[in-house]
Amino acid sequence: MDIGSELYRKTLLTISGNSLVEKLTLKYGGKLAAKFIASQELGGALQVIGDLNRKGILVTLDHLGEGIRALSEASGYREEYIRLVRGIEQAGVNSNVSLKPTQMGLALDPEACYANIRAVVREAAAAGNFVRIDMEDSPYTQATIDMVKRLHGEGLTNVGTVIQAYLRRTQADVRDLIQSGVNLRLVKGAYKEPAEVAYQKKSEVIDNFKAIIRMHLDQGVYTAIASHDDTIIRWVREYASENRISQDKFEFQMLYGLRMNEQARLASEGYRVRCYVPYGKMWYPYYTRRLAEKPANLMMVLQNMFR
Ligand code: FDA
Repeated sequence: MDIGSELYRKTLLTISGNSLVEKLTLKYGGKLAAKFIASQELGGALQVIGDLNRKGILVTLDHLGEGIRALSEASGYREEYIRLVRGIEQAGVNSNVSLKPTQMGLALDPEACYANIRAVVREAAAAGNFVRIDMEDSPYTQATIDMVKRLHGEGLTNVGTVIQAYLRRTQADVRDLIQSGVNLRLVKGAYKEPAEVAYQKKSEVIDNFKAIIRMHLDQGVYTAIASHDDTIIRWVREYASENRISQDKFEFQMLYGLRMNEQARLASEGYRVRCYVPYGKMWYPYYTRRLAEKPANLMMVLQNMFR
């Protein structure tokens, strides 16, 4: 079961890297991807956020894009993020923002990437908002952490990042980032990583996930636990209740299109719940990671094909 699901995940991530598969999916898969993508445009995404807020669900808004090929694309994304921060403020909705470092140019020019992200973080600071830098694959882990710490060093503390439980280095990073006062979202990890850097067994990832959640909750440090996994959610609820950790010390995060009823249910029980809402046209890599995470996500898409 463990080995089977890992094999499924790796196979899907490998297949989705094939350019013919990508071309065919882009041509025929748009409607199916809509299950996980709020809208192609900012206006539509803001409406979705309003609907979620009315159900008591907070949001983090992501403009889709990653792995750009020219720095000029990064400038476009930076401007879109500035528009997005202003759009959230003008619409009066409750949402922070999430962005990806390679979307801002990390793979091409780290200094330019830093300047792009800094511009977005400054805009968010002026609007009283927060920026989450998503974590991508392991070649970018250290650079992402360094950027966040550098921003904090400049007094821009309205920025945090993501820590992946599957990485072997993760507990040391959590200790360091808690010390630096960086707000973290904790996840299992969504990329294909080699055994030298990442645990390969699901049970090891879950044990490490629980360990880093505990590192936060035990010290009263606010954290975001991003998972659809009932084992994790149930464990957090029990751990918090046994240790008298109040509901405002952590939040659950889930992705748009997944477990929406569970998101509303947790919110109605008084838990802080944040939905990650992606919008835009560059949906392919995001979408294929979702299919790789769970055979049921692929089944859901295949079933919809025949409706
Ligand atoms: P997983 O997919 O491992 O499923 C485990 C179990 O959960 C299933 O067996 C089932 O019981 C239950 N379950 C899962 N989905 C369900 C569903 N739809 N319905 C019913 N039951 C379900 N990754 C990364 O590398 N960098 C990042 O920056 C982020 N950011 C991020 C933000 C947010 C808000 C989320 C939710 C996730 C991320 N991730 C991420 C992705 C993350 O690393 C991970 O790949 C996925 O969340 C999948 O792992 P889960 O723990 O959600 O459950």
